[in-house]
Amino acid sequence: MKDVMILTGAGQIGMAIARRMGYGMKIVVGDRKPENAEAISKTMNDAGFDTVPVEMDLSSRESVLDLIAKAREYGEISMLVNAAGVSPSQAPIEAILKVDLYGTAVLLEEVGKVIKKGGVGVTISSQSGWRMPALTAEEDELLATVPTEELLDLPLLRPENIRDTLHAYQLAKRCNEKRVMAEAVKWGRRGARINDIAPGIIVTPLAIDEFNGPRGDFYKNMFAGCPAGRPGTADEVANVAELLMSEKGAFITGSTFLIDGGATSSYFYGPLKPQA
Ligand SMILES: NC(=O)c1ccc[n+]([C@@H]2O[C@H](COP(=O)([O-])OP(=O)(O)OC[C@H]3O[C@@H](n4cnc5c(N)ncnc54)[C@H](O)[C@@H]3O)[C@@H](O)[C@H]2O)c1
Repeated sequence: MKDVMILTGAGQIGMAIARRMGYGMKIVVGDRKPENAEAISKTMNDAGFDTVPVEMDLSSRESVLDLIAKAREYGEISMLVNAAGVSPSQAPIEAILKVDLYGTAVLLEEVGKVIKKGGVGVTISSQSGWRMPALTAEEDELLATVPTEELLDLPLLRPENIRDTLHAYQLAKRCNEKRVMAEAVKWGRRGARINDIAPGIIVTPLAIDEFNGPRGDFYKNMFAGCPAGRPGTADEVANVAELLMSEKGAFITGSTFLIDGGATSSYFYGPLKPQA
């Protein structure tokens, strides 16, 4: 039996992290689109990795549990990479909340119950979560700790309180950060660690949908005007994941790492600051 990595989201960011950390493991590649899971799985198998594609839906607890059960057939789960998600131009408000917010919370909770001693996970949020004004201390605590099945009933997540899909995405990604903090406490009881990476614009199919979507000019301006002056790559996100998931990151858990070429800094204190 090998140790098992669960990869949810057979996209570019997920694959880059799985390639960096998953050699020698059984890698269970879950995605809502079977063709994505199969394509990433084949690319990795052709490069010497040992993967198996699985169709799954992050927004369903039953599907998450099925994925975990399938993964455990191969051995103990010692790594989780959650890079599944939908962006503001890809999905309506309800789907963004169900996948990016609720689904991520369920996955962290359920994997946290079975993760091998000393195991490690990362989930991918977004710089978007850093742009909203601060929530109240009480709202932060609710996002972190309310039982997963009650999350979408919180007043701040009710559809009438959400302006548009970008606002839903920001709330979902802020919730990911808070959830990772609360889960780190539980994962720690198993000697395991869980962290979050908040990328800026990384060239992937999801970002390309944004470039071609209603906020395309906004996104292109964002990477042109950030200190790095360019979008990032999935392999650069994997550099951060490698730190967090390797022994070098042994003292890091419950943290969110922003990797955005400085776009957030410029948004608050530089040329990307919105005009009043
Ligand atoms: N690319 C960027 O610029 C960027 C920036 C910030 C955050 N992110 C986040 O990174 C993560 C990965 O995105 P990516 O850029 O690699 O995109 P991607 O489109 O390459 O991959 C995302 C994958 O998630 C899958 N997916 C969507 N909904 C799902 C569901 N309900 N269940 C299972 N799988 C589902 C998609 O089918 C797709 O294969 C997402 O959470 C995204 O919000 C991306």
